[in-house]
Amino acid sequence: MMKGIHLCFITLLVKLWTFIDAFSLIKFEQRISHVKSEEFQPRQTTRRYSGLNLNDVVNSSSGSKQDNNDIYSRPSLYDLAFGYRDFEQEVDFLTYAHEKYSPSHKEPSSVLELAAGPARHSLTALTGSDSVNYVHATAVDLSSEMKEYALQLIKDEYLEKSTANSRSPLIILNDEEIRDNDRNTFKYLLQDMRSLHSATHMHSSLFDTAWILLGSLQHLNTNQDVITCFKSIHDCLTQDGTLIIELPHPQEAFSMVECTRNTWEVPLELSDNSSAKLSILWGDDTDEFNPVTQVRDFSVRFDLFVDGKISTSLSQQVPTRLFTAQEMHALAQCAGFEIAAMYGALDSDVSIMDYEQELAYRMVCVLRKRGDRAEKEKAFKSTLK
Ligand SMILES: C[S@@+](CC[C@H](N)C(=O)[O-])C[C@H]1O[C@@H](n2cnc3c(N)ncnc32)[C@H](O)[C@@H]1O
Repeated sequence: MMKGIHLCFITLLVKLWTFIDAFSLIKFEQRISHVKSEEFQPRQTTRRYSGLNLNDVVNSSSGSKQDNNDIYSRPSLYDLAFGYRDFEQEVDFLTYAHEKYSPSHKEPSSVLELAAGPARHSLTALTGSDSVNYVHATAVDLSSEMKEYALQLIKDEYLEKSTANSRSPLIILNDEEIRDNDRNTFKYLLQDMRSLHSATHMHSSLFDTAWILLGSLQHLNTNQDVITCFKSIHDCLTQDGTLIIELPHPQEAFSMVECTRNTWEVPLELSDNSSAKLSILWGDDTDEFNPVTQVRDFSVRFDLFVDGKISTSLSQQVPTRLFTAQEMHALAQCAGFEIAAMYGALDSDVSIMDYEQELAYRMVCVLRKRGDRAEKEKAFKSTLK
């Protein structure tokens, strides 16, 4: 009898221990995924990237014509570092969000991508699967190296993709050239997103949707710059247009006093069988954060290793502003927009509120114009008199 009770007690203890152990393992995994999900870094750290001829990347980065340390002057390294994203899935989400929150609920056919970098989202929209039907994209950026790189990408990758997906071939227009009936066209303009040319100059008509992705808005450090930029975009959009912005999740704004270090590596395979890897530092724990301006001196470092030796190294401090959700509402309003929805990732299943479950790691804001609604309200009020 006593032996039976002992046995039961021991079994109970073992079960309890297994439960506690499993629980702490889950907690530990959650902590790891939390650390990983901070800032813009891949959730998987060892994903291979096979988009480009990597020998070209290695050669072009070691013999770059740029002597400075500007990370955006080395587009091939930037593209490798952030090439882990699923561009087709992200473009599907952006298209879905436009359709859901645009007052007309119509499919978008033209897109303006600001601070576009290699412009992979625009190019995917034009050449990707049948689930999207974009016929025009204008990409805007300050960097001439990014523009050159994007135009090369079209030749190397996207012409083939559009043919494989039975899409019409892309036509690259001269910056200044405007066509009346431009179907399946792509333009890359060197402009500041705070002072955009008119939509008729950039394209022949207003745009259905505009995108500012991967925290690029963080390069605008003052409210005035953000409002000027939003107003400039507002003028380029149709009345039912949307502006979709991807930023870090606001929980980062509230933990910024202690900056975190984020690193990851991209293993590369070169055609001559030599091994290479790109090592990325995107934010360091020594970064200074100013709680008054909300600007962090963000450390960025790219180290390219070939056969274990550093072949190219690049580091820069980038002043990067952190935004809260309440600020985004206020800034949108100042420029004639309203925020229709906020997501926690470029994924319709992830709400901005899912941060406690570690799912929400970005703040994706879907803005639409307020004008129409304000006009309707005015008209309605006038009927009450
Ligand atoms: C983090 S990269 C993002 C690129 C791209 N959106 C992506 O998802 O990969 C930021 C880009 O913003 C551009 N940029 C910074 N300030 C800008 C401005 N005021 N106007 C236009 N582009 C700007 C940089 O040249 C760089 O290519």
